[in-house]
Amino acid sequence: MPKVTVDGTEIEVPQGATVLQACELAGKEIPRFCYHERLSIAGNCRMCLVEVAPGPPKPQASCALPAADGQSIRTDTPMVKKAREGVMEFLLINHPLDCPICDQGGECDLQDQAMAYGRPFSRFDENKRAIDDKYMGPVIKTAMTRCIQCTRCIRFSEEVAGVPALGMLYRGEDSQITSYLERAVETEMAGNLADVCPVGALLQRPQSFESRPWELRRVPGIDVMDAVGSNIRFDVRQRQVMRILPASTTTSTRSGSATRLGTTPTRLCATDSIARGCGKRASFAKRPGVKRSTCLPQN
Ligand code: SF4
Ligand code: FES
Repeated sequence: MPKVTVDGTEIEVPQGATVLQACELAGKEIPRFCYHERLSIAGNCRMCLVEVAPGPPKPQASCALPAADGQSIRTDTPMVKKAREGVMEFLLINHPLDCPICDQGGECDLQDQAMAYGRPFSRFDENKRAIDDKYMGPVIKTAMTRCIQCTRCIRFSEEVAGVPALGMLYRGEDSQITSYLERAVETEMAGNLADVCPVGALLQRPQSFESRPWELRRVPGIDVMDAVGSNIRFDVRQRQVMRILPASTTTSTRSGSATRLGTTPTRLCATDSIARGCGKRASFAKRPGVKRSTCLPQN
């Protein structure tokens, strides 16, 4: 197994590990957007830059660099700090400053990493670009101007869901993620796209403008609607289920999909009644003007 030094600490890493994984094994936090443990490596956000010797005298993307015997990795030098600040400033050039009205606010990787690794100011003085929102079906709501083109959603739909439903059109500043011809993303794992999106570009439609993450209590559960009993998490406000997520997107990128599909606005009460603990069979009707279905217990 290769031995590498991370910020002066020597560690052994498994064969085939990347520099980012070596840094994590050494207990170092490496910011990232496009990298996801369960997806292939894209290396396109450049947020995970570190200094590696021997190697070129420039910061390198740690997620795409294999760890090799004798490497000396630095994650805390002025060059790394400046590089991360530059990448963050670049990512924020076109990202709207709408965190106060964004459903991802409070659990957004971009928000968190901008605070931790970004500069407190921007030098960008031009107009920001704007991208039309896309229709992606009943589970996913889009705000594509917020997209940072990390391509996690594309890789997820191809590699995990097995449905090449998403892709990127155009080049450079014109790049945009699309479902092609405005078609719905027809996979039972569509809800997981919002889980892997590190910003507020892909959101859960049923939960839109309903709650904030800090209002929610996390309740572990089991998905009763898929055949393998996946671990899921109910996010609950008082006695109401506000959303359903996989227990962990790092150990499983797929779970939570079946139940979540059963919680689109017309069927949300299937889990609502569990939260209310009424224990009765219930039928659910949608009242005109009311976004969420209403529980009508049957005696
Ligand atoms: S929509 Fe989200 S997951 Fe997809 S590329 Fe944009 S930021 Fe990444
Ligand atoms: S996390 Fe390494 S380039 Fe995006």
